[in-house]
Amino acid sequence: MSAPAVTRLVEADWRVFATLRLRALTDTLGTGDRQYLEELAFTAAQWRRRLRAHAQFALLSGDELVGLIGAQRQSPDVVYLYSLWLEPGMRGRGLGRDLVIAAVDWARGHRARVVTLRVDADNATARGVYEQLGFGVVEGTTGPREARANEVTMSLSVG
Ligand SMILES: CC(C)(COP(=O)(O)OP(=O)(O)OC[C@H]1O[C@@H](n2cnc3c(N)ncnc32)[C@H](O)[C@@H]1OP(=O)(O)O)[C@@H](O)C(=O)NCCC(=O)NCCS
Repeated sequence: MSAPAVTRLVEADWRVFATLRLRALTDTLGTGDRQYLEELAFTAAQWRRRLRAHAQFALLSGDELVGLIGAQRQSPDVVYLYSLWLEPGMRGRGLGRDLVIAAVDWARGHRARVVTLRVDADNATARGVYEQLGFGVVEGTTGPREARANEVTMSLSVG
């Protein structure tokens, strides 16, 4: 089988995107989480809108989607990355890095100057992925959604 590859999802992919996104939220936050319950109730139009508004990169292994990262413009200069996730069985092979690289390349292509994200301070694996790519912890919080407890902001200059 060929190596897993990153692909950008388009609006027509909304059904597989919805399944993948809910799978990621279930795995990371659990089915009682407010964000999971909110997105569980999304209509087709809402999933389509999400795919139009934000770039979603998925990891394709064979014919299965096994990883995801979202990227959205926070301002003309800043792109915010969110929800990096890999199926547990796909972890430990550096594939998270491929997803982040795709999102950062997309930000560069859209002339962003800074890529930013939030990560749980104790999430050493995710922090390791971001640090290897040059992200550093910065003061303050950023991002379109309310910060969760214990999150740090990381950013990378790309301009
Ligand atoms: C975060 C996640 C995508 C990373 O998965 P991954 O690409 O399989 O990560 P890997 O285990 O291959 O580690 C990648 C790199 O991070 C570094 N790293 C891993 N664990 C680390 C640790 N505990 N401390 C420091 N660095 C670490 C390593 O340097 C590794 O590089 P290497 O390939 O040179 O060894 C995956 O763990 C995941 O889906 N976690 C659940 C969701 C999540 O936490 N998302 C982050 C939201 S911000």
